[in-house]
Amino acid sequence: MRKVWFVLGALVVASLGMARVKQSAAQEKPKDSQAAAGEYKISPEDVDKKNPVKATPEGLAAARKIYGYDCAMCHGPKGDGKGDIVDSMKLTMHDWREPASLEGKTDGELFYIITKGKGKMMGEGDRVSETVRWNMVSLVRSYSKKDAGE
Ligand code: HEC
Repeated sequence: MRKVWFVLGALVVASLGMARVKQSAAQEKPKDSQAAAGEYKISPEDVDKKNPVKATPEGLAAARKIYGYDCAMCHGPKGDGKGDIVDSMKLTMHDWREPASLEGKTDGELFYIITKGKGKMMGEGDRVSETVRWNMVSLVRSYSKKDAGE
């Protein structure tokens, strides 16, 4: 009999835990739906920012290293948007090998998204320096060039 109570108790604790997880998922919802409603705004100053960091092989290599840790699981090692967790997270990705995928976006916009994140993408924030983030902009653009990744 004692065993039964133990099992019941464990079940109650487990379901309480589940309820808490569900609750926090529900709390995050508004953010997502806001992004979906197209309320993502980048100020004109940020849109107009030019890349102040000249792309060099060293700079691209440094960006590629971090890309491998922080970005490739979604954007794919070659920037094709076929990262490992895309299916499980139900993400809609762009294939950066297609020049058209980034044509309408300025460097400033890409920098802003890399810094702040967008929708289900988390931004780099200050985890990496501005220089590295600008190098990432160059890296992201490089995937549509023939010699990308070599
Ligand atoms: C959890 C998956 C995920 C990770 C990790 C991630 N991204 Fe994204 N990224 C996305 C999604 C999804 C979008 C499209 C967001 C939207 O438009 O709502 C996006 C958009 C972008 C864009 C804008 C262009 C486009 O394709 O829409 C850039 C640039 C970008 N990501 C770069 C990066 C970089 C650089 C990293 C690593 C520092 C990174 N991302 C990490 C999922 C991710």
